[in-house]
Amino acid sequence: MEPIGMAVVGAGYWGPNLIRNIKAVDEIDLRWVCDLDRSRAELAVGSRSTVAVTDSLEDVLDDPAVAAVAIATPAGTHLDVGLACIEAGKNVMIEKPLALSSSDAEKLLTAAHDAGVVLMCDHTYCYTPAVQKIRSLVRGGQVGHLQYFDSVRINLGIVQTDVDVFWDLAPHDLSILDFILPEGYRVEAVAAQGADPIGAGQACLGYLALRLTGGAIAHVHVNWLSPTKIRTTIIGGSRRIVVWDDLHPTQRLSMYDKGVELNGGLDVDARRDRLIGYRVGDMVAPALPEIEALSNVVREFASSIRQGRPPLTDGTSGLRVLRILEATTRSLENGGVSVPLEG
Ligand SMILES: NC(=O)c1ccc[n+]([C@@H]2O[C@H](COP(=O)([O-])OP(=O)(O)OC[C@H]3O[C@@H](n4cnc5c(N)ncnc54)[C@H](O)[C@@H]3O)[C@@H](O)[C@H]2O)c1
Repeated sequence: MEPIGMAVVGAGYWGPNLIRNIKAVDEIDLRWVCDLDRSRAELAVGSRSTVAVTDSLEDVLDDPAVAAVAIATPAGTHLDVGLACIEAGKNVMIEKPLALSSSDAEKLLTAAHDAGVVLMCDHTYCYTPAVQKIRSLVRGGQVGHLQYFDSVRINLGIVQTDVDVFWDLAPHDLSILDFILPEGYRVEAVAAQGADPIGAGQACLGYLALRLTGGAIAHVHVNWLSPTKIRTTIIGGSRRIVVWDDLHPTQRLSMYDKGVELNGGLDVDARRDRLIGYRVGDMVAPALPEIEALSNVVREFASSIRQGRPPLTDGTSGLRVLRILEATTRSLENGGVSVPLEG
């Protein structure tokens, strides 16, 4: 099979990680690295590389051997760079967030659909072995009926100037939630509370409560002001509870056969007699392969192009995450009210 000709646009902080992983995949031929700052592209490919560098997107788009472009430019440029690539007939992978708004994301989706090309959003966490395992446990029924998703992502983080803590950190949790939810589940409404105790002009910590189809609930806690770093997600189900501690390299995932069950009806008499049963079974720590998530991202991009199918995290997943973030902003602007999801 001929390798897929690829280009990377944007060689700042994240682009070099993409470049390293793309170079390691045999079925991809990295042909170009493009950055408005040419010296960054040169630095990213190294002095003895045969990969061409340019500061002009046109060079990339004019090369018929380029079938795919990975875009790692700032979020505000994703729409323009993405549309230019799609309109040139290139398959496209765009870094998260897919765009700055759901309406921009819709433009990308429509363009990719019309051009018949793949549109992927790099929700990197979805390609970690831990999240892939959680998805298979939840979707495979081992967790049972989904009851709750509780995610904490806090540390002494960089206080961003252009986005609040929700837009900065919650896309990770929201893309993971979107990825693991079984068919038929979706986020129905969002209520957000944020605080800005240091006067940054935007929320620096906050809590998101999400109502899901079927009565399940999700909670996301994000914070730039925490002295300790916590990256823990709990996925509660009627059969098992999965705890993912991303800072625990030897046991990232723990699956507990523990839970609480209520026997008896809900009317007053039955409630008096009902029995609360505690299930205290084993905990297992599923073995996880040591694979860099970005390597899986790049391979998924390549195989979705080869197979002409939507990637696991296609443009629609990027759009769903943006819709939740927009509802979050509306909730914050309205004192934390529950905001139904549009679209
Ligand atoms: N998946 C992840 O976990 C992850 C992690 C970090 C960043 N990101 C995402 O990657 C993207 C880039 O972030 P970053 O931190 O690398 O930014 P950055 O500012 O460090 O780098 C962006 C680069 O793009 C170049 N650039 C800007 N506009 C361009 C254009 N029109 N054409 C060509 N080059 C252009 C800039 O010169 C710069 O070198 C963002 O969307 C960010 O959210 C994703």
